[in-house]
Amino acid sequence: MPVSFEISSSTGPYAVRIEPGALTALTQGSEERVWLIDDFFAGHAALKGLDTIPLSAVEPTKSLDQMTDVIVALRDHRATRATTLMALGGGVVQDVSAFSAAIYMRGIRWIYVPTTLLSMVDSCIGGKSSINVGKYKNIVGTFHSPAEVVIDPELIATLSTEQLAAGLCEAAKICLCRSADCFADYLALDPANATDAASMAKVIALSLTAKKWFIEIDEFDRNERLVLNFGHTFGHAIEAASNFGVNHGIAVGLGMQAALHLGEAMGLSYQSMPRIDLFRCHISELVSTVDGLREVLAQIDPAALMDTFRSDKKHTRSQFAVIMVAANGSVERRMIPRDAETESLIARAFALMLDDWALPGRQKGLAENSAHYQRAV
Ligand SMILES: NC(=O)c1ccc[n+]([C@@H]2O[C@H](COP(=O)([O-])OP(=O)(O)OC[C@H]3O[C@@H](n4cnc5c(N)ncnc54)[C@H](O)[C@@H]3O)[C@@H](O)[C@H]2O)c1
Ligand SMILES: [Zn+2]
Repeated sequence: MPVSFEISSSTGPYAVRIEPGALTALTQGSEERVWLIDDFFAGHAALKGLDTIPLSAVEPTKSLDQMTDVIVALRDHRATRATTLMALGGGVVQDVSAFSAAIYMRGIRWIYVPTTLLSMVDSCIGGKSSINVGKYKNIVGTFHSPAEVVIDPELIATLSTEQLAAGLCEAAKICLCRSADCFADYLALDPANATDAASMAKVIALSLTAKKWFIEIDEFDRNERLVLNFGHTFGHAIEAASNFGVNHGIAVGLGMQAALHLGEAMGLSYQSMPRIDLFRCHISELVSTVDGLREVLAQIDPAALMDTFRSDKKHTRSQFAVIMVAANGSVERRMIPRDAETESLIARAFALMLDDWALPGRQKGLAENSAHYQRAV
């Protein structure tokens, strides 16, 4: 059953459509189009005969240096101001497409077809693009909303367990940030076992409806929307320190675990909050499906984690901006002094998170705990 709704943005409303099989129908359009596609789809039957520019969906592709090649390719493919840029791929293709659509000939129309679960449940709405410069991830970007977002849940069929878990870490985060009821609705969908397109379509619709509230009330990321960065300052550090051996959604899952450790190190207790226990266990269950994670985490240099943490663009010169779970269980943004004491608490939070994943038995214990909690919902 197709689901559709509208997002309002400063550049006008845009439609979001969730419809199995939508990709094939979309390729029939007659307007002037150039497709920027994840090269994973280069041989896809639906794209035969279309004007496509394949991109490798790896982190270096979304660097400012690489934008020159994309802009030149768009020009070589005779894109004009009347062209619609069609973007087919996950977050990397989205960031590259949104950024180039914003600047190419001072801005052209673009339509986004997300292909990873992470991009379907989270990044496809909100209009943000983030591009890496040198060693700094997501340091430049634009707000340039797509004209339409078309989600074909059938595209999840080729995703790995790890990619599904990564998407669910972000969906769980959005639902927890939205409200206790929303997170309960999310768990009721039994997302960890919802691997078919129809079940996942429900998770996608719930997560995007929850995110819609944040981006409509705070399009430019100044207030309410900032809490959606939960786990991201820690997560970006984990991505960078692992040389991108840990993917974005999984790093955010681990980052949220580190942020919960930080809350406890700062004297907060989540003991009497079943919702936070459930959240913790659910994230552990998702992350524990990633093969080889323990070995990757064991290679991480704690100093590298702190270096990236310190360089996050959301901090000020005198304060760290950290998204934390408050004493009442709500997710909030806290500004904390940048001093030696805070640094040691943050380093400890990272260490405790790494320690959680250092022993195979512990992962198993966390996942079993999760199964127990799931049954209790
Ligand atoms: N702009 C935003 O709002 C925003 C939000 C979150 C994340 N991001 C960025 O997105 C990136 C991560 O994106 P991602 O996790 O969506 O994936 P991705 O674009 O990094 O792709 C990951 C891998 O999945 C493959 N892939 C894509 N679709 C597939 C499919 N249907 N079947 C099989 N394989 C497929 C790709 O080829 C690639 O190998 C990061 O750079 C992150 O910073 C941006
Ligand atoms: Zn994210």
